[in-house]
Amino acid sequence: MAKIIALSGSTVKSGVVEKAMEQVLKSTGQEWKLVRLKNLNMKYCTGCVGCAHTNRCVLKDDINEILGQIEDADAVLIGGLARFGKLNGLTKVFIERMFPLFHNNILKGKLVASVSGGLFDQETVKEELSAVFGAYKMDEVGALTMGGNASCYKCGKGETCNNSAFRAKFGDDAKITKDVFYVFDKDKEAVERATLLGKKIAEAIENKA
Ligand SMILES: Cc1cc2nc3c(=O)[nH]c(=O)nc-3n(C[C@H](O)[C@H](O)[C@H](O)COP(=O)(O)O)c2cc1C
Repeated sequence: MAKIIALSGSTVKSGVVEKAMEQVLKSTGQEWKLVRLKNLNMKYCTGCVGCAHTNRCVLKDDINEILGQIEDADAVLIGGLARFGKLNGLTKVFIERMFPLFHNNILKGKLVASVSGGLFDQETVKEELSAVFGAYKMDEVGALTMGGNASCYKCGKGETCNNSAFRAKFGDDAKITKDVFYVFDKDKEAVERATLLGKKIAEAIENKA
């Protein structure tokens, strides 16, 4: 059975991004492992370029083990989300820490797909991740985007705050009810696209074998 490693940049357990990633992964019919980046001991890339010849990082944290798992995997799935209009920081930190696999084109041709969540900017996130995959010379199989929820739905001031993402999304007179929350499993069209992406990943693995 092929091995797929999935890296989730969401900070919310069972949030939208994770739910969507799980649907993609289950649909591959292959062996998979989901790593939550928030649970890793992960420092920032210092830019020392100590990795240029060893393909491993000099920093002592969890990243070298993950790099090995990425090298061993038949395909990689990366989940990111929008914050302040761009890819969120946790996912970006991880992408920078993949730098040891950059210099010697270690990931050239490695199958990869993305899942991007957001309230407004999921397409931007998808494009950002695609550009990263291009830089690493990875072989992008596909990408899934879907909706998301803002913290403003739950903070208690979402209907009145001048900076409310809820008001920006639904208008100034809208009321926060349970119906406004985006639930991935209820978005049948997105679930279908996630399922298709999983099948596409499995097909790409098979075609490469
Ligand atoms: C601090 C913060 C900032 C956010 N900024 C944006 C944003 O600029 N654009 C956007 O589309 N979504 C934004 N969002 C919404 C998240 O991207 C969205 O809810 C995402 O789907 C969450 O995925 P999760 O449930 O896996 O955490 C923001 C969320 C938070 C918590």
